[in-house]
Amino acid sequence: MRISLLNSIFLVCFGSLRLAYGQNIEPECACNMSNLWLDVVVVIDNSQGMGHNGLDEVAANIATVFAQSNITQVLGQTTRVGIVTYGKTATVKYHLTSFHDTETFISKIFDIADKPITDTTSYIYTGLLAAQTVLHDGRVNGKRDNVRQVIILYASAYKSQGQEEDPVQLAKQIKEDGIDIITVGFNQFGDEYFLAGLVKIATPGMAFNNTNADLAGEIQMNGLCKINCFCPTAWTQYTSQFGLASARKFALCLKLSDIDAMWMAAKIACQHMDNSAYLVSELDETKHNFIYPQRFFIHRMEPCPDGALKIAIPYPNDMFAN
Ligand SMILES: *[C@@H]1O[C@H](CO)[C@@H](O)[C@H](O)[C@H]1NC(C)=O
Ligand SMILES: *[C@@H]1O[C@H](CO)[C@@H](O)[C@H](O)[C@H]1NC(C)=O
Ligand SMILES: *[C@@H]1O[C@H](CO)[C@@H](O)[C@H](O)[C@H]1NC(C)=O
Repeated sequence: MRISLLNSIFLVCFGSLRLAYGQNIEPECACNMSNLWLDVVVVIDNSQGMGHNGLDEVAANIATVFAQSNITQVLGQTTRVGIVTYGKTATVKYHLTSFHDTETFISKIFDIADKPITDTTSYIYTGLLAAQTVLHDGRVNGKRDNVRQVIILYASAYKSQGQEEDPVQLAKQIKEDGIDIITVGFNQFGDEYFLAGLVKIATPGMAFNNTNADLAGEIQMNGLCKINCFCPTAWTQYTSQFGLASARKFALCLKLSDIDAMWMAAKIACQHMDNSAYLVSELDETKHNFIYPQRFFIHRMEPCPDGALKIAIPYPNDMFAN
């Protein structure tokens, strides 16, 4: 017998009393650049299309985005960054294992900005392909294989090299592999199709351009921090709208499971999080609406034993760190 929606219990463990229960305030993921947990490849179009001025602007932007990052090879809530440049062809300048500190990374970015290449065309396809290799190579032997991967593409043009080397198709494959793509358009020539092309390449909501007054802040808050807000494998993230890729994500992970085991796990996770943590049972309408389609999805994937209930515990990782 399946437990009906009405007498099921929704358990939430909050790490902090500041998250007022009952007021519909959902736990937000923290956005602190110094402890993001990411592998990033910065892909820079350094062709004539970008030019000296464009490249200087790109370098200043990258330096601002990563100024507070903890770029290192030390494991933990740290960031690794690689650099690829491209025109007609791409060059891997630095692998994910290259940088041991943030200052060196930023100084190398300015070195690259000093030297535009002579290519007059640039193919996004070739840049993305090289970035995919860098991400793959940075992960040998399962190293950091639970860290989210990101490509940030700085482009001055959108050109397709025909069906076989279609950047949108390649981007689609990359995103299907769980890698997010942030695009930053530097529209030097006022090409109206250019930014529209980048939107097709980017993860939904992550196509930016250099007319934005707070471009670095946008890349941090609506790009990197959102990507860093995720649930572990086999958990479903609670969002503002089920099934919507660009929905707001919260620091709450859901799982259908056996009540006794999960209640204990939730209780222990809460107790470990901080002294003020507690468990509550809750049944609010928004969560019900979210949970309802989820139930089918999860039932189909993994049939629930009789008496199983929905349990939610926050992921006791960096989501609550600030
Ligand atoms: C970077 O992260 C490592 C590992 O967590 C830590 O030991 C180090 O202190 C951090 N560095 C900075 C500058 O925060
Ligand atoms: C460029 O960015 C601005 C600011 O975010 C945005 O309002 C505008 O729609 C973007 N332009 C295009 C063509 O996407
Ligand atoms: C971000 O995290 C660092 C290291 O954990 C901490 O020192 C700093 O105070 C945090 N910044 C904010 C704004 O919370």
